[in-house]
Amino acid sequence: MTRKINIFDTTLRDGEQSPGASMNTEEKLVVARQLLRLNVDVIEAGFPISSPGDFESVRRISELAGDKATVCALTRAVEKDIDSAADALKYAKRPRIHTGIGVSPSHMRDKLRITEDECVERAIKCVKYAKKFVEDVQFYAEDAGRSDFDFLVRVIQAVVDAGATVVNIPDTTGYSLPEDFGRRIKYLMDNVNGIENVTVSVHCHNDLGMATALSLAGVRNGATQVECTINGLGERAGNTAMEEVVMGLRMHGEDLDGHTDINTREFLKASRLVSSITGMNVQANKAIVGANAFAHSSGIHQDGVLKKRDTYEIIDPADVGVGASQIVLTARSGHAALKHRLEELGYEMDGEELDRVYEAFLNLADKKKEVYDEDLESLVNEQERNDETAAFVLESVQISCGFPLKPTATVTLRNDADQSQTACEWGTGPVDAVYKACNKIMQVDNELSEFSVQSVTRGIDALGEVTVRVTAPDGEVYTGRGSDGDIIVSSAKAYINAINRLLNDKRQHRR
Ligand code: KIV
Ligand code: ZN
Repeated sequence: MTRKINIFDTTLRDGEQSPGASMNTEEKLVVARQLLRLNVDVIEAGFPISSPGDFESVRRISELAGDKATVCALTRAVEKDIDSAADALKYAKRPRIHTGIGVSPSHMRDKLRITEDECVERAIKCVKYAKKFVEDVQFYAEDAGRSDFDFLVRVIQAVVDAGATVVNIPDTTGYSLPEDFGRRIKYLMDNVNGIENVTVSVHCHNDLGMATALSLAGVRNGATQVECTINGLGERAGNTAMEEVVMGLRMHGEDLDGHTDINTREFLKASRLVSSITGMNVQANKAIVGANAFAHSSGIHQDGVLKKRDTYEIIDPADVGVGASQIVLTARSGHAALKHRLEELGYEMDGEELDRVYEAFLNLADKKKEVYDEDLESLVNEQERNDETAAFVLESVQISCGFPLKPTATVTLRNDADQSQTACEWGTGPVDAVYKACNKIMQVDNELSEFSVQSVTRGIDALGEVTVRVTAPDGEVYTGRGSDGDIIVSSAKAYINAINRLLNDKRQHRR
């Protein structure tokens, strides 16, 4: 039997740090339910001191997970961070505090302005402090990938002696080469006394496109926990993609001496869910979950696959959930069928909320005849975006455009004081006109930095999903999404959603 490799998911923490990918608590709970279905070992649910929203998410996910997964909260090596994490984890059955400090020359000298001795002292202090609240304390040695080998041994020895149960060795900047990173892990395994009694974790970033290779090199050399995210979401170029590292282990488990307990058939669903909630689209040629991951277009390949699948396919698509659900709902499907399907997709709802989604579903089913899982996800996410915390809601939008007209839009929005306002503007195109009219009403300083349209399913009657990103004057990026059968309406909804998120965030931080 190979070693069990723990999967530590950080989609809700590091993943969420990726610009424009922020999620609210309800959205995080939907993702957390899917993580439980995947059977991850640890969910890093947030960084509680960073915002009231993060605190609340860690608290609610702790309640949700029960004893099905360890729930972890991030802190700096600062007592007030650890107090906040311990408080947020109060209801967790399996709580873990993840604390740590930068250990590379660059982090110590330029960021923290501390000496090596001070760094070791602070590392010991934060682990001991966290141990007062929980037994399970994970220490991260930030930027370990660029640290001095012997100094890293010194820090890790100190925190193991101080009671850390897990030591996390991140390649924070994605700088390393896989062989070198593997050698670093081996050096720790060979030189830290008692390392066999703790879990060694790897946390690799994808700046050189090697996060998965780095993580597997870590496993080969002794690590038994891998930190990763769905779709590889994360700071800058992202983190290790869970689907890649798990399938890598599935393919090469004997060689790497490792297996995971992940339910890989949930991967595609998880990928779509995270992409739909965060607005971070998955590239078509992305390994495992990209739209083309199992598509064969050349004649030679098609011929081979038809003769025997494994001539060109190393993974059975069904093993990662491709083609798993072909359940199609129609206008004749009742409340119960919709509720059941939504539950399978990770959405739990009842009462008025379910009634609202059912109404939207019937509207869509009338137009579209067959409603697929992707349509349902899009519908539910659209409903959730229009919650009562929204500062503005779209009441109506009308455009006039075409050759040789000047594109003109009339938009009516309702604000959270229940007042309706209408504005009319013209623009270089219909979407530009709609956004100008919205701006006239909302008056929120921002710059539109990205706009994209995708169809949710195939066919002319498909829902059109628009993703926009806006940048606030302080440089913060906010993503908005909108979906509708009419892409002008989707465009208006997406823009209003991005502005609502911006306003919500600024209000939260003002508190
Ligand atoms: O990349 C990193 O070093 C991190 C730590 C906070 C674990 O995300
Ligand atoms: Zn990270």
